[in-house]
Amino acid sequence: MTMRVLVTGHQGYVGSILAPLLLEAGYDVVGLDTEYYAGCTLGPEAAHVPTIRKDLRDLEPSDLEGADAVVHLAALSNDPIGNLNEAWTEEINFEASVRLAELARAAGVSRFLFSSSCIMYGMSEAAVVTEESPLDPKTAYARSKVKAEQAIAALADGGFSPTFLRNGTIYGLSPRMRFDTVLNNLVGSAITTGRVVLHGDGRPWRPVAHVQDVARAFQHVLEAPRALVHNQAFNNGEDGMNHQILELAQTVMEAVPGSQLECLASPDADQRTYKTDFTKFARTFPEFRFTWSVRAGARELYEAFKTVGLRHDDFTDRRFTRLAWLRHLLETGRLNGSLRWSHHPPPAMPHAGVLEAL
Ligand SMILES: NC(=O)c1ccc[n+]([C@@H]2O[C@H](COP(=O)([O-])OP(=O)(O)OC[C@H]3O[C@@H](n4cnc5c(N)ncnc54)[C@H](O)[C@@H]3O)[C@@H](O)[C@H]2O)c1
Repeated sequence: MTMRVLVTGHQGYVGSILAPLLLEAGYDVVGLDTEYYAGCTLGPEAAHVPTIRKDLRDLEPSDLEGADAVVHLAALSNDPIGNLNEAWTEEINFEASVRLAELARAAGVSRFLFSSSCIMYGMSEAAVVTEESPLDPKTAYARSKVKAEQAIAALADGGFSPTFLRNGTIYGLSPRMRFDTVLNNLVGSAITTGRVVLHGDGRPWRPVAHVQDVARAFQHVLEAPRALVHNQAFNNGEDGMNHQILELAQTVMEAVPGSQLECLASPDADQRTYKTDFTKFARTFPEFRFTWSVRAGARELYEAFKTVGLRHDDFTDRRFTRLAWLRHLLETGRLNGSLRWSHHPPPAMPHAGVLEAL
């Protein structure tokens, strides 16, 4: 029988790649998303996925009926949103995620993949962090991921196997593009302004991964024997994905002809730094290959943006920066003080209308 997978957050940056990938692989996919970023599309919409349009905080047991697995991506997905209002991040990323896992377990769901983040590790330059390293979350977003992992891990039993995939910063083309993650931002800036802008000295390290590799890795873990993944956390990537921001910038300069490096002295620059050890993933899934390099990813973005003539207005459009878009929805009254839609169903969003050719 076809396996039914509930994918939460399937209309976000990662979900718009991952849900269609699972559909194509023959899964019976149902998406669940409140559609904060409806209309925030760059290029054509992702493939249609049957959708439960709902806030994660308002789940009912019936939403899990018939599901064999859950891939849980829905979240307020970065530090700046967490800093805007810590309570929303706590409610959605932690409390509602744990409730989702409880409902899933009660409904007989056997596999639960949680999209976590390497941001939960300490950020000392000297450290190379493994899954066993102490967690040292510095922000509301990072804390929400740590607390969710811990509470969901406590639910694991003979019938319910959660797995935690700790991602680095993700780059690459997606129908619901983000320009607020590092490589996408650097390429967007280079092509629309000729400048590769670094805030600070560019020395911090980041693990970075291509969105298609991330999606394939989720599928691989979903299909892995239960004994390999039961209640395990994995740094989702491979050796060679750790880069200093300066190195990312240099790679972007090579990919975007004529672009120049510009270093801005920014006392507030993001100085988080961490190198991630991916040995556990390689040891557990020796047959899996991550196929993208930063060089190829920067080139892919450059070619796509050049083909469609990405303009500076597109690059800076709030539709592609998560915090700016949520702020806009709040300021225009479309979202209320609990970050829920003011009207049901939410008003239709205009399609971004750019880059149809992508
Ligand atoms: N993009 C990255 O670099 C990155 C890195 C590490 C971890 N992650 C994690 O991966 C997951 C996916 O990230 P992304 O980049 O696709 O994020 P995204 O912001 O593009 O998408 C998140 C999706 O979740 C939905 N959502 C948010 N709150 C919801 C709620 N209350 N109810 C229902 N739906 C809700 C949004 O509408 C959106 O479609 C997140 O859990 C994120 O924390 C992402």
